[in-house]
Amino acid sequence: MAEQFDLVVIGSGPGGYVCAIRAAQLGLKVAVVEKRSSFGGTCLNIGCIPSKALLHVSERFAEAAHGFAAMGICGCKPKIDVAAMQAYKDKVVEANTRGIAFLFKKNKIASFIGTGRIVEAGRVQVMPSDGAPVELEAQAIVIATGSDSAALPFLEVDEKTILSSTGALALGTVPKSLVVIGAGVIGLELGSVWRRLGAEVTVIEYLDRILPGMDGEIAKVLHRELKKQGMAFHLGTKVTQAKTTQRSVTLSVEPAGGGKGQTIKAQKALVAIGRVPYTQGLGLADIGLETDERGRIPVDESFETKIAGIYAIGDVIAGPMLAHKAEEEGVAVAEILGGLPGEVNHDIIPAVVYTTPEAASVGKTEEELKAAGVDHVVGKFNFMANGRAKAMNETAGLVKILADAKTDRVLGAHILGPMAGEMIHEIAVLMEFGGSAEDLARTCHAHPTLSEAVREAALAVAGRAIHS
Ligand code: NAI
Repeated sequence: MAEQFDLVVIGSGPGGYVCAIRAAQLGLKVAVVEKRSSFGGTCLNIGCIPSKALLHVSERFAEAAHGFAAMGICGCKPKIDVAAMQAYKDKVVEANTRGIAFLFKKNKIASFIGTGRIVEAGRVQVMPSDGAPVELEAQAIVIATGSDSAALPFLEVDEKTILSSTGALALGTVPKSLVVIGAGVIGLELGSVWRRLGAEVTVIEYLDRILPGMDGEIAKVLHRELKKQGMAFHLGTKVTQAKTTQRSVTLSVEPAGGGKGQTIKAQKALVAIGRVPYTQGLGLADIGLETDERGRIPVDESFETKIAGIYAIGDVIAGPMLAHKAEEEGVAVAEILGGLPGEVNHDIIPAVVYTTPEAASVGKTEEELKAAGVDHVVGKFNFMANGRAKAMNETAGLVKILADAKTDRVLGAHILGPMAGEMIHEIAVLMEFGGSAEDLARTCHAHPTLSEAVREAALAVAGRAIHS
């Protein structure tokens, strides 16, 4: 006899586990199927959380090595114990994944370890790595299986010399040299970790800029800052071939538009050219659920696929591959199933790149507004003129606010600077309420804080910033 549930969620990443918890809060009987032995998906196990642990450690290390002397702290020549750093990271991951197990218990969510396959609407088969398959029945099934690293056809990831983000998070020593393919979020974050710890890092990017999709001006200033930190960049460059040995890799590169090539040799290479939806083993073809040209599952505005009762959220559907976007969608589906009007405002999903300085954005970029012909005003303020940033000796970067020229409504905001990922949220809230730059400019901000730069940028929209 199959076990009966109201909802079976396949995948326990931020999309899946949040969906399960919200559904349980609303009184649904919920099961989660997870093929890893720990909950939390890519984000908690091999993504956001471990990378933030390594970013935190390497930031502190770089500050001690290069920043302390300027502030009068003497005698620092820090050494890195990579094994201890990795143990710290593993502890952080374990505490987070255990937290999910605790929350499942607290919310009486049943969990099944194994690969979930959808037999038909209402029926999921769980294949454990050993033992007999288990049948589950449910009114609704949510696919939340996430994504996997995209591969280059001529560069097989062995996680020793050729790394994906998973291998780059688990290195046992600091490589002498690391070549990063792709100047996206993963490439710049993990490139930063190993650069700060002493590796020579060279980034190869196909496009003529870093961080495609981010506001161009912010990306340009970040590019300059990363170069100052010693990262080398080859933009507008494609990799055509690779020769790998156990000790090194030699990449043949040439200008993206064609031209004279060269070779780049490094001890290790990180392939960070994007991620692709992960739907392997779900049996989608057998139930007649097609994916689009990018492997994504099409859904309607309620996240329901073309098969009634089967939903999909997060990285397996369209939109930015971000943990918090998946969480929002998980909550929305749970609320729809619980009889509430669940919805997600996809126009206001913040994005953060955890480099030094941090880059954070919400809403439209200046390029997007120009392309759409939206008449807008730009207000900018540099951290160089912010008292708190000066006191912290972290003055690189700026706040940029884009407001509608007629209504003053804030359409987008971009911050490059210390704690940008924290500061972006006051603008996200403002935008959710349809607020204007003037609303922000009229709100008292505590002094001395970094957030005063946000207010000054809002004042600058009306041409009346005080400190610039
Ligand atoms: P990405 O899409 O951010 O960047 C990939 C980069 O590789 C792009 O700049 C692209 O132009 C370049 N590229 C593609 N093919 C190339 C080639 N053959 N040669 C050279 N360059 C090439 O992808 P990434 O960094 O792998 O991240 C994957 C996903 O994970 C993204 O959706 C990202 O948003 C998400 N993520 C988010 C994080 C955050 O929110 N802080 C952290 C890490 C990942």
